[in-house]
Amino acid sequence: MSWTDRQRAMLRVMGVPLWQPSARTAVPASEPLGPAPVLQEVPQQAPPPAPTPAARPAPAAPSSASAAPLVDAAVAGLGWDALRAAVAACEACSLAGTRTQTVFGVGHPQAHWMIVGEAPGEQEDRQGEPFVGAAGQLLDAMLHAVGLTRGEAPPERQVYIANTLKCRPPRNRNPEAEELARCEPFLQRQIALVQPRILLAMGRFAVQALLRSDEPIGRLRGRVHRYQGVPLVVTYHPAYLLRQPQDKAKAWEDLCLAASLLE
Ligand code: URA
Repeated sequence: MSWTDRQRAMLRVMGVPLWQPSARTAVPASEPLGPAPVLQEVPQQAPPPAPTPAARPAPAAPSSASAAPLVDAAVAGLGWDALRAAVAACEACSLAGTRTQTVFGVGHPQAHWMIVGEAPGEQEDRQGEPFVGAAGQLLDAMLHAVGLTRGEAPPERQVYIANTLKCRPPRNRNPEAEELARCEPFLQRQIALVQPRILLAMGRFAVQALLRSDEPIGRLRGRVHRYQGVPLVVTYHPAYLLRQPQDKAKAWEDLCLAASLLE
């Protein structure tokens, strides 16, 4: 699929009227749609090499001293199997008492793209896989439109998807600071193992976990940040996009920005 075809597919799945096929006269086929925002922190022409865990600085201190990670040191050296087992056995916060199962993550263990969401919902808690509900369907469609998938594919095409929390908060309430802090070593270790070339932080809690920022998504998106050396693009959470479809075009711009870093 050519870039223009991908964009058309994206417009269809996102329901962005300006970009629907019927608007062909407004957008010549040879021209890219929705220009990627200007990069402010990372030059487009020189994507950085994938970082190695050894080259990374120590993680920043958690924002809440009372919610310091309990398992940080123990998790830091784990391989995939041990990490998965540690997550499955975790009882570091009260969510262990209400979950059906933990939701570890899915995708290529050396994916170039790593997507970070918030927390499992009802479907994810049932099925043990992130983003399998309505928001996940939109995420899959968006990924597909830029040639990416969660299904079997080479590491440049198969993404890795993880959440900041591995357990569902009851009634899908917002994650609490202590839950985020105690779960964070797991996400940090997943990122260190995957060594992605681009991180896509979807929504407020992913941004808080990775950038330590409380700024609104609208102020953080459209430029390139870094998480321990890895370029990071902020975008809206798919569940938000389902409620606010007028912002889907901005999410598309964010995906284009992320893709441009790997070209
Ligand atoms: N929302 C998320 O942030 N993650 C999921 O896995 C599902 C919904």
